[in-house]
Amino acid sequence: MNDRPAHDLAANPEDASFNDSRNDSFANVLSMRLSRRALLKGAAGFAGTAIFGGSLMGCGNSDSGDDDLSLGFTAVPKGLADALIVPAGYTASVLYRLGDPLNAATPDSANIAGDTGSSYASRAGDHHDGMHFFGMTSAGAYDPNGSDRGLLVMNHENITQLMLHTAGPTVANGVRTVKDEVDKEVNCHGVSVVEVARTGNAWTYSKTSAYNRRITPSTEMVMSGPAAGSRFLRTRFSPDGTRTRGTINNCANGYTPWGTYLTCEENWSFYFRRVAGDNANRTAAEVTALNRYGITQGSAGNYAWSTVVAADPNDTTYTRWNASKIGASADGTDDFRNVANTFGWNVEIDPFSATSTPKKRTGLGRFFHEGCWVGPVVAGRPIVFYSGCDSRNEYVYKYVSTAVWDPADATRGLAAGDKYLDAGKLFVARFNADGSGSWVELTFGVNGITSASATYPFADAADVLVHARLAADVVGATKMDRPEWGGVNPKNGEVYFTMTNNSQRGSTAAPLDAANPRYWSDTRGATTQRGNSNGHIIRFLPANGDHSATAFTWDIYLFAAQATADTAAADADYQANVNLSGLTANNDLSSPDGLWFSRATPGLLWIQTDDGAYTDVTNCMLLAALPGQVGDGANVTIANKAVPQGAGGATVDVNMTTKMGKKVTEATLRRFLVGPKGCEVTGLAESADGKALFVNIQHPGENTTAAQLAAGTFESTWPGATAGSRPRSSTIVITRNDGGKIAV
Ligand code: FEO
Ligand code: CA
Ligand code: CA
Ligand code: CA
Repeated sequence: MNDRPAHDLAANPEDASFNDSRNDSFANVLSMRLSRRALLKGAAGFAGTAIFGGSLMGCGNSDSGDDDLSLGFTAVPKGLADALIVPAGYTASVLYRLGDPLNAATPDSANIAGDTGSSYASRAGDHHDGMHFFGMTSAGAYDPNGSDRGLLVMNHENITQLMLHTAGPTVANGVRTVKDEVDKEVNCHGVSVVEVARTGNAWTYSKTSAYNRRITPSTEMVMSGPAAGSRFLRTRFSPDGTRTRGTINNCANGYTPWGTYLTCEENWSFYFRRVAGDNANRTAAEVTALNRYGITQGSAGNYAWSTVVAADPNDTTYTRWNASKIGASADGTDDFRNVANTFGWNVEIDPFSATSTPKKRTGLGRFFHEGCWVGPVVAGRPIVFYSGCDSRNEYVYKYVSTAVWDPADATRGLAAGDKYLDAGKLFVARFNADGSGSWVELTFGVNGITSASATYPFADAADVLVHARLAADVVGATKMDRPEWGGVNPKNGEVYFTMTNNSQRGSTAAPLDAANPRYWSDTRGATTQRGNSNGHIIRFLPANGDHSATAFTWDIYLFAAQATADTAAADADYQANVNLSGLTANNDLSSPDGLWFSRATPGLLWIQTDDGAYTDVTNCMLLAALPGQVGDGANVTIANKAVPQGAGGATVDVNMTTKMGKKVTEATLRRFLVGPKGCEVTGLAESADGKALFVNIQHPGENTTAAQLAAGTFESTWPGATAGSRPRSSTIVITRNDGGKIAV
């Protein structure tokens, strides 16, 4: 979120990290005109193909042409109540909360703080995030069209550390002295697999399902793909560089056409300690790489896990969070100097095999993976996955498999993953000022990615994947306003990405460009919010509808804003050209983060917020949208006023011309849900019939202070009803009281 309290910055470092690499190929795109002809040509080319008919993604009716699709609910007003609000005629029920047990041997939670740390290996973790519903047959097999029974697989991105322990964490002189507290914090991260079922219109989770599973930062995993076994991944735990322990900071997610789950490692780098003076022990290339990924010397590491002293000196459970060079070996096999290279990947999990070993898929590159979204799946064509790297000024990527899709692989689980995810090409996006774009290949020896690169000496193919951010710098990828979730519209194959916000936009590190065209200054209390405070959503159409193509056309679907942003009387810092999309009180939003296309109702888009800029007016929210298509709007020239953006900020007014989608109306964008205090709304999934919508309410009450904890007056008690209830991240399920499809 934006503007998090200081105590929370370490836990939410995405707003503290940024790309200031020298990559200014796209700094000079001011006021260039978009080629409308190019857009129209792209759209026409796409319309001439029909590649969606072969989809196996449960969207067989995606060409149903529901042009009369309409939103069928009354908008929920903005609000600050400590409550979860959905429209009249809908019911939201809490399904799976932090601390809920996953087997019969584990008792119900004792208000979180009363639970042991080890018990969290069998309980719901914290900060529920990206999620997928895998439908099942009554016999327990994967059924993408199943709606009555299924596995919810979800990420537990992070923790609200203060609330996990009776009086917050115990720390003495920087050392974590209570091992059980650290065990709880570690176990509260990772992934849940939990079986859920429907009876009538009501959903419950099973405490006894054989599929229930927790995957944590301690679960052993296999390194797979081109970087596996490389010198970059060698550690004391795995001297041959083929294994690692656990996954961390799992943000958004993905799923594959072969029935597996993808969990994506986002702000993993901040968990690692690196002692002061470590740079002197590392090569120049290593220091460049460590800094580019935010693993700077002198970092204590989130929550200081590496400081726990284990009883057995050979037990590396805690010391492995120290990524400093400590050992004498030349290759890192006697310490954990390379451990951070085993994080930052997409991890594939087979939810239908509770004993399977997750695989980290290095072919998709190492960065701050927000999520991973599959393109249309067509027999005989490559499988394509889209990913964003969520930090300020970072990039949008895609992966194109070498193998082409064989529908016979749909039931092969991780073996199919080996085939499609371990051999392919990685690309990064350039958004040109004329509305065209290109995918630039990130391959060793191609596009200047060589040992002679100016910023980093790439040695081989593994080096390029481990240091994908540095490779993307070389090719002049477009620096974006924090790419969060993506999605592919099943109606037309267009790819959407949220750009949640960027307080640096307009500075030397991130000059305005056509794809990130706004900055302004907005006073909120004593704080001046600068840059692109409210975010936007960009979308693009692959050339000729071919997702493996390197060309695309794009426009900006939505500019998030306060409805009153352009109204002088409402805002002392009035500046025109903020509320460009025509938002009203019933659909205004800030910091779009989650973005998710329904497959049961093709054309229905959900947008979720993780905001800090508009939270003086409203808690975070979920909105339903019926978007149009790339090119349905017009050119707009945005008159950005010069405002201080901190050091290196713009000093002159900058007009930026871009292509904006058709303005929205309350018929095409409407607020569906407002969450409780302090939460982020995230993690969308649905039953295949579209009659159950699963939503994650992450970190309610996260702004609770130590003093409030001591007084027992939490910012939020949701979902509990009584004053002493600790707030709990939770999965909720929303149903329509008449049993119909959600939102339409
Ligand atoms: Fe974990 Fe990018 O939010
Ligand atoms: Ca997110
Ligand atoms: Ca976020
Ligand atoms: Ca969050």
